Amino acid sequence: MCGIVGYLGRKNTKKILLNGLKELEYRGYDSAGIAVLSHGEFSSFKAVGKLVNLEAKTKGFVTNKFAIGIGHTRWATHGKPTELNAHPHAGHNSYVVHNGIIENYAQLKKELLHEGVVFLSQTDSEVIVHQFEKNLQYSTNAFKAFKKTISEIKGAYAILLITKSEDKKIFFAKNGSPMLVGINEENEKYFASSDTPLIGQCSEVNYFEDGDYGYITPNELIIYDKNANKREPHFTKLSTNKLSAQKDGYRFFMEKEIYEQSSVIIDTLLGRLSEDRIIFDELDKNFFDGINEIKLCACGTSYHSALTASYMFERYSKIKTSVEVASEFRYRSPIMSKNMLFVVISQSGETADTLETLKMAKKAGLKTLAICNVDNSSMVRIADTFILTRAGIEKGVASTKAFATQVTVFWMLSLQVAQIKKSLSSKEIQKQIKYLRAIPASVHVEDALHEKIKRLSKRYLNGHGFFFIGRDIFFPLALEGALKLKEISYLHAEGYPSGEMKHGPIALADPELFTIALLPQHLLYEKAKSNVEELSARDSTICAISPLEFDKADDFIQTKEHGHYMLEFFEMMVVVQLLSLEISIRLGNDVDMPRNLAKSVTVE
Ligand code: M6R
Repeated sequence: MCGIVGYLGRKNTKKILLNGLKELEYRGYDSAGIAVLSHGEFSSFKAVGKLVNLEAKTKGFVTNKFAIGIGHTRWATHGKPTELNAHPHAGHNSYVVHNGIIENYAQLKKELLHEGVVFLSQTDSEVIVHQFEKNLQYSTNAFKAFKKTISEIKGAYAILLITKSEDKKIFFAKNGSPMLVGINEENEKYFASSDTPLIGQCSEVNYFEDGDYGYITPNELIIYDKNANKREPHFTKLSTNKLSAQKDGYRFFMEKEIYEQSSVIIDTLLGRLSEDRIIFDELDKNFFDGINEIKLCACGTSYHSALTASYMFERYSKIKTSVEVASEFRYRSPIMSKNMLFVVISQSGETADTLETLKMAKKAGLKTLAICNVDNSSMVRIADTFILTRAGIEKGVASTKAFATQVTVFWMLSLQVAQIKKSLSSKEIQKQIKYLRAIPASVHVEDALHEKIKRLSKRYLNGHGFFFIGRDIFFPLALEGALKLKEISYLHAEGYPSGEMKHGPIALADPELFTIALLPQHLLYEKAKSNVEELSARDSTICAISPLEFDKADDFIQTKEHGHYMLEFFEMMVVVQLLSLEISIRLGNDVDMPRNLAKSVTVE
């Protein structure tokens, strides 16, 4: 979730790096930095928070001759968002920026510390520059030292490194994290971790492949592939449309964000799981002391994730949990007892109603926790403690990846409380940790699944409404499916508990009523199935989503078999998101900016 830029040329290096970072700021925004090497002298600047802080720091810095420079905007994974942890990281004579994770950093760091190297940051990235400088002592040139360093690190990376020993070269390496280099007729070279910073600056770009490494000088671009064979760059024309470039080829941001869920959930899990424990560094060891009740408050999609949390807190943590829509909670003189933990959930951290409930809880002297996607947002600043969901910037008004990461956090948190309260055995927690690690795979979008939903969506454009139905924790998912569909398609949709249909709503059943039925294998399958059969008998048009064949449906979307119902939940979540997307695209709607809605609702 970080962003990288690099530049070699004669123009205003500082401005080019800062402008590039501005384009990438949506990827990470807890700190940023640049390092520029010109005529054998380094200048480096770092600042915590938004890019404007870095801009202010570099105000008096002038770059008007040949220079090489690298820059980075960070979204913290290893180590807190501080200036020391911000990139570029310095050695004695070199600087590095890095996106990704160095999996063997702990071992490398141990060896370097043993040899007397001093580390300034808590990051995994800093080992790269020290390892490089160590190798440089025994190498005949900087490229050999760089090549050796790359062969010694394991993990995912996009790396740019500059060093005084070769002050007209930028060294690069890519594996698992995106990076490209662009050129133009003015003989400049630009690096970035996505194409947007390069649009308008470069005519052609080369996207690096995994395993590529090499260097650029004013006159050359040298690339070696993963087998250490030299290869020619493959230049392609660069788009001139920034908006479409930001969408990475997807039709809408919402679609891109559905596809991103797998990688953002990896970020959400990062550093929070061991073999047998859940670790939230954010929460003080005694955070849950004296708490015997949890109250969750939120709006919209975040309210639905709060509902899923209530099932998990009661089932796993054995703690009384209730959920409230924030706009209701505000005005109904709620009872708030001192032993209650008050939790607000919000993608933006700015939703007015939710924010107000947080203030009410603080005023009543309750312990408060914010589960939020935006660092430094109002809720994060006001709550006693916060957990960031790490979904990255969500641009589509219809929330998708924010929901996915919220539910992931709640699954972890309910297990952590279970661990503290000993309401689950350590064997069971270990087992569930294995399932948690399988979430990213469960939300990976398979081409065949997306194609099937695309095709099937044409049957669901008319009719007099949709029911999304599910039982237990699949009921909040049904609510979320209905909300997704209605906000972007403008069709009427409701979420219902499957077992509740016969208490009234089934009166609506006819072929023009579409029922989207969630039928997980591992949670109340038989019960949910007979509820769907009741609807089928009344001739409702049914689209069943299940890993188990179901012959009473008009359409059937088969999900994979999973060992745990929560993994079924995550896969079905993707199905209902894609179904809403495809129906809305067929209806010709602007999926990213649906009518009457705003991304952040900061008014009551
Ligand atoms: O930023 P928040 O999570 O607090 O926003 C709450 C709702 O406004 C939001 O989830 C809204 O319902 C979305 N448009 C749903 O897709």
